[in-house]
Amino acid sequence: MNRKYRKTVIAGNWKMNKTPSETKEFMNQLKTIMPKGRWCDVALCVPAVCIPAAVRAMRDTRVGIGAENCNANASGAYTGEISTGMLVDAGCKYVIIGHSERRAMGETDADVNAKVLAALEAGLTPIMCCGESLEQREAGITDEWIAMQIKLGLAGVSEDKIRKVVIAYEPIWAIGTGRTATPEQAEEVCENIRAVVRKLYSSKNARAISILYGGSMNEKNAFELLAQPDIDGGLIGGASLVPEKFVQIIEAANQPTV
Ligand code: PGA
Repeated sequence: MNRKYRKTVIAGNWKMNKTPSETKEFMNQLKTIMPKGRWCDVALCVPAVCIPAAVRAMRDTRVGIGAENCNANASGAYTGEISTGMLVDAGCKYVIIGHSERRAMGETDADVNAKVLAALEAGLTPIMCCGESLEQREAGITDEWIAMQIKLGLAGVSEDKIRKVVIAYEPIWAIGTGRTATPEQAEEVCENIRAVVRKLYSSKNARAISILYGGSMNEKNAFELLAQPDIDGGLIGGASLVPEKFVQIIEAANQPTV
């Protein structure tokens, strides 16, 4: 983290977990144990049907609610889809885009790019995900692969909007497996992502953008991961489903930094 130049963001990704009733219960528990400090931005990205309950429960708090996906079109014949305008109207501040689980369902870099542009246009903060598979890591092409995902995902994002994008590096082999990237491995890729942003935009923008790590981040390993200079927060799946664990990760983001 480097709080001098950029925001620290701790974001939960609930995936397909919890009902609206369970959401209300979780949020009420979270409110009672939320740390008082204002060091980092806290987001919870929840299933679409849970958004109203989450927004209602967290109205007077500093926790921003987000969605886990969106459609790039403003409206129309897209059965089952949800537009960025609908998310904003429902009270969302964030949207996860291009999670590897969605890419595995067929989402392409072009889809990710269209969604990032739509989210920015609507005033949402996109949390754009990237990450390599184990085969790609073992083949030594992690940097090239990630650079390509970043370049394609950010295509057409203007100089004045780039700082609103949050990037999440999530090695696929670390998601939901309990196998976390070492702080050094995660730092190396996040540093590379910042270098790609520097090349595409400027040093100032690269320094200001928040890059998160995700993949089995939990209350035990968060402190060490967040101590890395280019890891500005976390995108947390499993550990964001338990209020006490999520709060401990927020507390890890309160550690001293340069
Ligand atoms: P995990 O999920 O923390 O359960 O590994 C992270 C994610 O997929 O965003």
